[in-house]
Amino acid sequence: MTKPKLILDVDTGSDDAVALALAMLGGEAELLGITTVNGNLELKLTTDNTLRVVDLCGMGDRVPVYPGCAYPLVSTLNPHSAQSLRPIPKREGSGTGQFGMHSDHLPLPATALAPQKTSAVVWMIETVMAAPPGTITIVALGPLTNLATAMRAQPGFAERLQRIVLMGGGDATGNETAAAEFNIWTDPEAAEILLQSGVPITMIPLDATHQAFLSAAQAEEIEAIGTPLARFVAALLRDRIAGYAKRDPEMAAKKIAPLHDALALCYALHPGCIRRSVEAVCHVDLGGGAAYGRTVLDRRANMVQEKPNCTFALEPDRAFFCDWLIGILRRAAKH
Ligand code: RIB
Ligand code: CA
Repeated sequence: MTKPKLILDVDTGSDDAVALALAMLGGEAELLGITTVNGNLELKLTTDNTLRVVDLCGMGDRVPVYPGCAYPLVSTLNPHSAQSLRPIPKREGSGTGQFGMHSDHLPLPATALAPQKTSAVVWMIETVMAAPPGTITIVALGPLTNLATAMRAQPGFAERLQRIVLMGGGDATGNETAAAEFNIWTDPEAAEILLQSGVPITMIPLDATHQAFLSAAQAEEIEAIGTPLARFVAALLRDRIAGYAKRDPEMAAKKIAPLHDALALCYALHPGCIRRSVEAVCHVDLGGGAAYGRTVLDRRANMVQEKPNCTFALEPDRAFFCDWLIGILRRAAKH
């Protein structure tokens, strides 16, 4: 069976880093390339962090990294958008990134690997337009600026994609604000462009990722695998558990944290990891008020005027997800 052809679009970020490593070392996909975007951190840092993970996985000669958009299309609310009008707040936790969980630099050695000179948007367009229609899936793990820009710049780009699997959104919950999830909130207009594009989209929202948590005990189990990669993932997981403990008493009590982006990758490779989802009409609030960036699901049964434009994941198979993640780390240890 041919492996799925993937492009990973990331704002690395601790959970992006885990998803990248699993994609590169899991052997389950043909990773055509990685594109980076502003989000958790400014583009220079998300790109450098991505290169460090590629280096850790020994893939510097096989997986190219293309830097993308340094700013969202319109919004300047994310202080890591260099054009943002707001200073970068000192957030709790180790880093300056989202909720302090995304340090400027991942706990990895600096790398000599360099990004490609071609920009992510140009490379995405060239790659998708040169491929047979419907053969490339884009796994989007950060704000959707690169993808939206490619859709607007190249007629036929959206129609040629096989599908988009994106980590983002929330029905019953937000994280960056009471209403909005961080990836969508950083670039709401970009997310709405995707939802109007007609591309088959699966959203892996907070409603699902918060149920697919990993625990401190699993961090121990991962660390015991003993490889540099396993120790790295265990350290990131512990950092995230500490970060979430400051914001969520329930997660603090259970010593758990989600690895949002890894669940989105797991779905792209094993759709059965999502037990329940809904085919829904989803659009993004662009009003600029308290709900700016909220993903609004229209489930008014017979009142809905539109065809569903996304599959919205609601319930993961947590055991499958954790076994899959730890299994890849164990198998990678044997090579
Ligand atoms: O809200 C979680 C998402 O925002 C994840 O992709 C995380 O990496 C941040 O980008
Ligand atoms: Ca991310």
